[in-house]
Amino acid sequence: MNTLRPVGIIGTGMYVPEKVLTNADLEKMVDTNDEWIVSRTGIRERHIAADDQATSDLCYEAAVKALESAGMTADQLDLIIVATITPDTFFPSTACILQDKLGAKKAAAFDLSAACSGFVYGLATASNFIGSGMYNNALVIGADCLSRITDYTDRNTCVLFGDGAGAVILGEVPEGRGFQSFDLGAEGAGGTLLKLEAGGSRMPASVETVEGKKHYIYMNGREVFKFAVRVMNTATGDALKKAGKTKEDIDLFVPHQANIRIIQSAMERLELSESKVVVNVDKYANTSAASIPLALVEAAEQGRIKEGDCVLMVGFGGGLTWGASVLIW
Ligand code: UT7
Repeated sequence: MNTLRPVGIIGTGMYVPEKVLTNADLEKMVDTNDEWIVSRTGIRERHIAADDQATSDLCYEAAVKALESAGMTADQLDLIIVATITPDTFFPSTACILQDKLGAKKAAAFDLSAACSGFVYGLATASNFIGSGMYNNALVIGADCLSRITDYTDRNTCVLFGDGAGAVILGEVPEGRGFQSFDLGAEGAGGTLLKLEAGGSRMPASVETVEGKKHYIYMNGREVFKFAVRVMNTATGDALKKAGKTKEDIDLFVPHQANIRIIQSAMERLELSESKVVVNVDKYANTSAASIPLALVEAAEQGRIKEGDCVLMVGFGGGLTWGASVLIW
């Protein structure tokens, strides 16, 4: 990374809502079964936000923990970026709502929309603000309440998603540590494979859009699966190359948690043993922008990352988008 100073993660926090929706619960809602869900996706359960919780509430819980772990108070924050596709409202942004809840009075705040790649996009954005000297620190959160845009009568999608938030504080770190590279990309031509059609300026909300179920996630699973396997390979390769690293250098691989089969195909390509791969898709399902930070923060809390470790993150999703990063912890 070509920045004036090294930037890395100096605090972490995560939050998932209390309510758990298991495969057995879903068996009562749609024509599905635990065997199909586990064998095709690796998912066993997912956490679902309470009726009175919105994305900013999940962000708040994760942010408070991240600030505490960094030994900082909210009024010290320079910048807040919330990566989400399920903001509380179109505007004000979830980042602004959070800024107020935290009392982060001097922080600039904005949301970032890159679906499941949003957290890595957010890291890249914030680390450049800090690397350039414009800001000294940033709170970057990946958070989504996908349950709010999931059709629980559609077995093709309702078994796949969950809610959560993962937060990190970025700041200056010692020489040789921090972010070594980012590889971000987009393939807008594939945008229709994974989308939420209505509610924007193209198709404003109406009785017809509600009746036509156009406020729910639509996904062409098979095509997104192929895209995911392809870009997991190219994005990780490019991020490693830009960082001057090889797959042998990886101490911990933190992939987007969408499907265990996609993760396994990347593991095989990177020739990684299970001990070097973070998998929590079984507990949280696909939480979109929250997926990578939930995996990263959980691994850190479990003591699976030590100082100097080479961490490779990669995400892919709606847009279509992808993002990978090499980080020395
Ligand atoms: O984070 C954003 C990125 N998203 C992803 O990474 C998702 C990528 N895609 C996937 O993970 C997989 O494509 C899915 C898990 C979504 C689907 O797995 P698949 O192996 O591609 O299954 P399929 O869509 O080809 O469906 C196979 C069969 C179908 O039945 P027929 O047409 O063969 O008779 C489906 O109707 O499985 C059926 N099916 C189900 N059966 C039981 C689909 N969903 C279910 C279900 N329970 N929940």
